[in-house]
Amino acid sequence: MENVILIGFMGSGKTSVGKAIAEKIQLEFIDMDEAIVNEQGRTISSIFSEEGEEYFRNLETEFLIQCQTKKNIVLSTGGGIVTVEKNIELLKKIGKVVFLNTPYEQILNNVKGDTTRPLLQQENAEAVVLSLMQKREPAYFSAANMIIQTKNKSIVSIAEEICNLL
Ligand code: S3P
Repeated sequence: MENVILIGFMGSGKTSVGKAIAEKIQLEFIDMDEAIVNEQGRTISSIFSEEGEEYFRNLETEFLIQCQTKKNIVLSTGGGIVTVEKNIELLKKIGKVVFLNTPYEQILNNVKGDTTRPLLQQENAEAVVLSLMQKREPAYFSAANMIIQTKNKSIVSIAEEICNLL
């Protein structure tokens, strides 16, 4: 079975859906943010505040490079993975890239009150979400081998839909 990689905006359910797919088809689940936090021994917020966003983006690329040799994994990525062009080629090399396409309103609802995502810790978080979504959308589409609309669907039904298409 080819590796499965989930991409999509913050709050689109990549981690939950990834876990559900891994369980369903017995693959190893890897959450990229969590792996980076473990490797670094500090939170995403600390990495951003101590080193800056570019440093974090390099960690993401390094992690993808490491993943090239992995087999039988479901990988959920951070929402910004597609912002670095080189990552898109790497994602495609690692496995089947599945884009969870989630509407703005649902994203807002899911990230509301979140304190762990540094890019959203601002007064105008709603506007930031909209502008980042618009900016990133073409890159999500261009990286994807499979596009899944997640509007009004449960985690389980999204996972099932993906498994049926693999
Ligand atoms: C980010 C998304 C986050 C995390 C970091 C930056 C982004 O991951 O990698 O806060 O730029 O969209 P999730 O998509 O899992 O929230």
